[in-house]
Amino acid sequence: MAAFDVERVLLVEHWTDTLFSFRTTRNPTLRFENGQFAMIGLQVDGRPLLRAYSFASANYDDYLEFYSIKVPNGPLTSRLQHIKVGDEVIVGHKPTGTLIQSNLTPGKRLIMLATGTGFAPFASILQDPAIYEAYDSILMVHGCRTVPELAYGQRLVRSLPENEYFGSEVRGKLTYYPTATREPFVHQGRITDLIETGKLFDDIGQGPLDPETDRVMLCGSPQMLADLRVMLDNRGFTEGSGASPANYVIERAFVER
Ligand code: A2P
Repeated sequence: MAAFDVERVLLVEHWTDTLFSFRTTRNPTLRFENGQFAMIGLQVDGRPLLRAYSFASANYDDYLEFYSIKVPNGPLTSRLQHIKVGDEVIVGHKPTGTLIQSNLTPGKRLIMLATGTGFAPFASILQDPAIYEAYDSILMVHGCRTVPELAYGQRLVRSLPENEYFGSEVRGKLTYYPTATREPFVHQGRITDLIETGKLFDDIGQGPLDPETDRVMLCGSPQMLADLRVMLDNRGFTEGSGASPANYVIERAFVER
């Protein structure tokens, strides 16, 4: 049996010169948890060319969605960025990943911190009704260089209050904080600096990071993860895993494509 399913492209959206998203059909037998990733890609010269991609759709959707960077000479994305509706994409059978609710102990505030395409797994998690039941408040912070790079996340977040099942919970619990680092915007600066200076929590009128009540999920570049890991560890947070849930979890944003 093949290690992957062949799916058909249903929709492609280009967000910037370097960012696009696409939807595919979904094998109904594929199971994943919101926040996980799988190997996906294309058949090239009869061989599978696969990279890790977080699911950006929710695990109850009958389609799959992915959010991708375009790497000019990237073996996969130099091809994948040209896909059209009806083309074939291959999707691996073994979703995995650490960015899942069961790796966190119960808490009161869920804080999701993403840079760049690190937003993708949070697109899935933000559509999970379970987080609105499990937490009193939810904070989504997304940092990008430019404002257009925030657009995919902005559209997703703006759709959530309209959701017929959990929209009212979203309206009461979710705070969204997009920030740009290289051009003027309503919020500016790196996530790390916004936390260090206290500006993030001042702006939203909430208390600072607290390991007793906060549960944190991180997805971004290796340096962003390394810096935030130090900041969390210094504040008394512990990294969780399947074997020992704790108060934060980390996933690298997959960019080598
Ligand atoms: P900056 O513009 O100051 O580099 P990239 O496109 O390089 O993946 O970056 C995405 C976003 O992540 C940018 O806004 C970038 O800010 C920010 N960033 C890069 N490194 C870090 C880090 N170590 N901590 C926090 N944010 C970072």
